[in-house]
Amino acid sequence: MRAVDVIQKKRDGAELLTEEINFMVDAYSRGQLPDYQMAAFAMAIYFQGMTARETADLTMAMVNSGEQVDLSSITGIKVDKHSTGGVGDTTTLVLAPLVAAAGVPVAKMSGRGLGHTGGTIDKLEAVPGFSVELTKEQFIGQVNDVGVAVISQTGNITPADKKLYALRDVTATVDSIPLIASSIMSKKIASGADAIVLDVKTGDGAFMKDLEDSIVLAQAMVEIGEHVGRETVAVITGMEEPLGLAVGNSLEVIEAIDTLRGHGPEDLAELCLVLGSHMLRLGGAADSVEAARDKLAALMTSGDALAKFKSFLAAQGGDASVVDTPERLPQAARVVPVAAPSAGYVGSIAAEAIGVAAMMLGAGRATKESSIDLGVGVLLRKKAADRVEAGDVLAELHVGEASDDAAVAEVHKRVLEAYGLTETVPQKPQLIYAVVTKHGVERL
Ligand code: URA
Ligand code: CA
Repeated sequence: MRAVDVIQKKRDGAELLTEEINFMVDAYSRGQLPDYQMAAFAMAIYFQGMTARETADLTMAMVNSGEQVDLSSITGIKVDKHSTGGVGDTTTLVLAPLVAAAGVPVAKMSGRGLGHTGGTIDKLEAVPGFSVELTKEQFIGQVNDVGVAVISQTGNITPADKKLYALRDVTATVDSIPLIASSIMSKKIASGADAIVLDVKTGDGAFMKDLEDSIVLAQAMVEIGEHVGRETVAVITGMEEPLGLAVGNSLEVIEAIDTLRGHGPEDLAELCLVLGSHMLRLGGAADSVEAARDKLAALMTSGDALAKFKSFLAAQGGDASVVDTPERLPQAARVVPVAAPSAGYVGSIAAEAIGVAAMMLGAGRATKESSIDLGVGVLLRKKAADRVEAGDVLAELHVGEASDDAAVAEVHKRVLEAYGLTETVPQKPQLIYAVVTKHGVERL
């Protein structure tokens, strides 16, 4: 087989054979196919698209390029969740213990990554003593005993995706639906998921700005799941403002604790109930999403969800007393308020801009080498559609030792600009737009 023939076939719009897709991915990951041929192949896919079958083949070729995590010694159906981006997305911290409390095993591997705040792993490291490195035996043992474990991703998972994603980044081929769908799904499948719940963001702070594009992406991922025997449900959710109130590592741990107690911000709590309900249904812990939702709400009220969070923290060496005394988490050196210059309503809050502000304070990494300050971030006090009077605090900047007055002034300006104040009563932004399953698209 010759790469040039496969590239030409896709360029001309024909459907590729499984062997042809395997050949390209395999040769590329072994360093036998040069970047320029893979780049041409990605561009051909960008313009010609892929059928559902081809996309599933591409996904599995990337899964097979590296290690696959074997979770078969964990009892029960392993349901994983993935969110496509988002600002201040605290859902994993809430869902891991919540879903485990309902009896669905959570064996999660998570990344640190770049971004506005750290990844879930960094957030958990805000808890003194918490260890994100367990041996494979400890990891599996803990999921069987406690119901939940979250560790830092190790090993050589989907190396072909890693290499291809980096290439796409510099060849204008990131925003191709088959390429995004196969990239995301390959990582979930290689991590051992039996079933997958996807939170596909749409709108300003999201990867796909347009609702219809987000639905098509979700359908592509649900179809991959169908082809490879991993039932997948995708929820399309709005990113018109940051999720919840907290954007920062310690701040989000506190927000997760509040939410597990049933006192979380309305949008975060709602999203966790929706995603968690689908996880329970796929995991066989409820017959319907309605029954699942009641079950999850009851676990919050009864304190069982919070108790599960404590045993999870303790099992990984963390100080579970942070749940009752959050002051034990890393703290900011000072808190600087951002006040409303005039009265009105919050029309919108630019999610991306708040994320960048949190990162400038040190909550996230700009490059792989940057270190993060777990105590800092942005805490929103007003959300979209809230009434404000002049001088009301819109948000608090939680500032660390490393930020001088000039840096704080710059962040202050950005946060103030992110708030769009209006005189008329605005509509609350929509949170859930659609649910995509193997049965079709349900628009809300
Ligand atoms: N996230 C991924 O992991 N891959 C993509 O291609 C896009 C977003
Ligand atoms: Ca949040």
